[in-house]
Amino acid sequence: MAIMNENYSNLKESYLFSQIAAKVATYEKEHPDKKIIRMGIGDVTLPLAKVVVNAMKKAVEEMGVRETFRGYGPEQGYDFLHEALVKYYTKIGVHLETSEIFISDGAKSDCGNITDIFSDLNTILVPDPVYPVYVDTNIMRGRKIVYIQGTPENNFLPMPDNNIVADVIYLCSPNNPTGAAYTKEQLEEWVAYALKNDSVILYDAAYEAFITNPDIPRSIYVVEDAKKCAIELCSLSKTAGFTGTRCGYTVVPHALKRKSGNGTLMELNKMWLRRQTTKFNGVPYIIQRGAEAVFSEEGIKECGEILEFYRENARIMMATLDKKGIKYFGGIYSPYIWLQCPNGMSSWEFFDYLLETLAIVGTPGAGFGTMGEKYLRLTAFGSREGTIEAMQRIDKSL
Ligand code: MLT
Repeated sequence: MAIMNENYSNLKESYLFSQIAAKVATYEKEHPDKKIIRMGIGDVTLPLAKVVVNAMKKAVEEMGVRETFRGYGPEQGYDFLHEALVKYYTKIGVHLETSEIFISDGAKSDCGNITDIFSDLNTILVPDPVYPVYVDTNIMRGRKIVYIQGTPENNFLPMPDNNIVADVIYLCSPNNPTGAAYTKEQLEEWVAYALKNDSVILYDAAYEAFITNPDIPRSIYVVEDAKKCAIELCSLSKTAGFTGTRCGYTVVPHALKRKSGNGTLMELNKMWLRRQTTKFNGVPYIIQRGAEAVFSEEGIKECGEILEFYRENARIMMATLDKKGIKYFGGIYSPYIWLQCPNGMSSWEFFDYLLETLAIVGTPGAGFGTMGEKYLRLTAFGSREGTIEAMQRIDKSL
């Protein structure tokens, strides 16, 4: 008899964004005349940069010619993309070896898959509110999860608590969902805490490209000794509009080692390589050529313009919220605006109000944890017209 992974019964009925999509689909069916403005899931709306499309077209052509055709690639990605990433990191003051970078189909998959190299006996530390993938993937493994609270008082940037001992720590900066970004000094505290407890930080940098202030870290590795305690996960989804194209990368430094129960030193880089070569066949060549183009001079410029478009959306949103006196976080180094629900509404009440009264889709803060109960997240990834119209609707009715 097959015995099932009963940890699945400890999960919520459905994944947050699937639950919202179902609600919106019902509303759409019942109100076909309403123009819905979607500011819920953080999905991009602008097309890929031209330089990226051209690189992929060229790669498609190569695949159709015997001399340049490629079959299985290296599971951890092609060196041309590793090299492009090494250069990208150098610009922000981080030196990496090509063998420390693993190309994947995105940060969400890697977030889940990386749990394979850790024992289920680990205690997992998660800030609340939090991207639900960190929690759900660990519930699936039956692991103990402890929470630290993000609050308006700490600007939704919780700091280590020496009364809590955790083995694996999830950090996301700029944060999903709150948009808050850690300073270097704050990350130094986290690194010191992880080193003291021999823990490993899983640092989600998926929104790093939104940072415009050189004093705010775009990588945890700007902190000394972070390579001894942190894995960094990143994605091209938001940096270059790859939500549908799928490409990301995970950095596992060679300096990251932990002792096994019998005292042998285990290199996490080797373990992850072993995991990936066994369970993954790599990202398609065509996509990796597109990703390489993202980090070219032209790619950085074109993608930069796209990011600036979304930043302007965020500014438009913040101006309306300021005008209405609605308190919010994020929006500066992030496409997310985390706002306090008006009139004491709960986050699902406000979600329903926005959908049913204004035909605007947000993401209820409670979906990210108990600390999100009185909050709602809006994204700046929409069209300009949609963003302006949504703000006009909010301005008139709230
Ligand atoms: C979000 O809306 O939180 C993100 O789009 C989810 C993701 O990146 O998987």
